[in-house]
Amino acid sequence: MIPAVAECFQLMDLYEMLPNIREHSVMVGRVAGLIAKGAIEAGLPLSLELTVSGALLHDIAKTPTLNSDLRHDEVGRQICLRHGFDELADIVAEHVVLKNGVESGCCTEKEIVYYADKRVLHHEIVALGARLEYIIERYGNGDELMGERIRRNFQHAHQIEEQLFSSLHFAPHEVVDLVNGHALDLGGFRL
Ligand SMILES: [Fe+2]
Repeated sequence: MIPAVAECFQLMDLYEMLPNIREHSVMVGRVAGLIAKGAIEAGLPLSLELTVSGALLHDIAKTPTLNSDLRHDEVGRQICLRHGFDELADIVAEHVVLKNGVESGCCTEKEIVYYADKRVLHHEIVALGARLEYIIERYGNGDELMGERIRRNFQHAHQIEEQLFSSLHFAPHEVVDLVNGHALDLGGFRL
């Protein structure tokens, strides 16, 4: 079952998503929606609803795992399953790190959400490089090895960007203007 956009917002309330995480999630939803729409127009077999709902809920476990050692991607996966949103489980589980890297079937809803999350810093659309620098500063703890691991993970985002945008009619740097210029219309819900 895939939750509708309105249901995603109810879930954000239920799991007490903080306003800044909510803003971030909405922007990731808009970026993921724009890319999924373009990819569908280019002939890729994707679900716009699944991509947007996955993006809106990718950080659903951020607040419940604050100040704990629990991983918000794993707890997010469990939350999806608990609510019967099985299709979303892997998307949420792998939005930080893609378990098998970039697979040959790239790009599915999962890769789009993973990529869109790396294009949004707080609630602003940025280039991959800017988001990478922020993550290294925030989560790298000055540890060179950790920084290297983060950088290696980001290679997947670059690979996805290259593969995805080769079939889209817009370039990565055009995402900002396209997202800010249009609201995303989803089943009567404007995002
Ligand atoms: Fe996250």
